[in-house]
Amino acid sequence: RNLKRQTPCRSDIDRFHGPFLEVFESLMPSEEEKVKQKQLLTVLEKLVTKEWPDARLYLYGSCANSFGFPKSDIDVCLLIEDGNIDKREILLKLADMLQLDNLQNVQALVHARVPIVKLMDPITGISCDICVNNLLAVVNTKLLRDYAQIDVRLRQLAFIVKHWAKSRGVNETFQGTLSSYAYVLMCIHFLQQRRPAVLPCLQRMRATYFATLENVECSYFDQVEKLRNFGARNGEGVAHLVWAFFHYWAYCHDYTNDVISVRTGSTLSKRAKDWTRRVGNDRHLICIEDPFEVSHDLGRVVDKYSIRVLREEFERAAEIMQNDPNPFLTLFEPY
Ligand code: CTP
Ligand code: MG
Repeated sequence: RNLKRQTPCRSDIDRFHGPFLEVFESLMPSEEEKVKQKQLLTVLEKLVTKEWPDARLYLYGSCANSFGFPKSDIDVCLLIEDGNIDKREILLKLADMLQLDNLQNVQALVHARVPIVKLMDPITGISCDICVNNLLAVVNTKLLRDYAQIDVRLRQLAFIVKHWAKSRGVNETFQGTLSSYAYVLMCIHFLQQRRPAVLPCLQRMRATYFATLENVECSYFDQVEKLRNFGARNGEGVAHLVWAFFHYWAYCHDYTNDVISVRTGSTLSKRAKDWTRRVGNDRHLICIEDPFEVSHDLGRVVDKYSIRVLREEFERAAEIMQNDPNPFLTLFEPY
């Protein structure tokens, strides 16, 4: 690994700039799809306010963070301000209402870590998960969307990384690999680390956005339209960044000692976070700090088996980016 770490990027990397951009373009959802998502949200809003007049619905996750693929499900958060509600009761009530309104496959999963109701809208064909009062997810969705507006290379890189992860079967938290959310944070961290940097660290700048949710203070600089030129001094194209991303996770990241942290724009030590040993099911074999819930390691789902799978996939990808004649095809070959 140490030898590989020194390997400079292949000299012909920019030949693949065009092909990787085409992959990116092919993964963008259409306007038509976004219209359908809005339609479904309107239907749900009408239904919900009949029962809870002050309630509001927020989109979060990939349909709102600008990292969504075509045909993704939508994630919706129902906000009910009343402090005394029982989330499970609300979800069961909601499930009944949805069923009466002819939505299909309605299912209340009240015992999940994040309790939700699932449904499918037969008119638009869109599936949807609804949770209650999960505002941290709404705010971290905004953070991702704001980062995406600073430099288009974040979306290009993250779409390619998500597509790679889905093709290679390493985007399955129930099997011990990482969530899409974790991969996007890895991309943001990586672009904060480039020299010159492609992205700033918004949580280290003068805060212009403030929210306190579930006892967590969330604040950061969100006037991102003022940062559109931030990455201009870095001229790296998408192919080069994809190469460097996989090179970093294959050969350069210190899995034993380091935590990546978008919040601080750098790495932290596992020791400082007390993430050095297994506690319960949290093994901390790859550490990704949540930008707001800082005690939350998004790598905690990774176990001693899946860490090997992940690292072998990073090495495979790095190898392809370095040597393959058609990396823009080989990278995404199904496993
Ligand atoms: N989320 C979170 N904490 C996690 C996982 C997810 O807060 N450990 C929230 C984030 O707001 C994230 C949303 O749930 O944006 C959806 O997560 P995920 O399904 O991983 O990402 P998507 O962007 O929806 O990706 P996909 O296209 O794979 O559905
Ligand atoms: Mg999702």
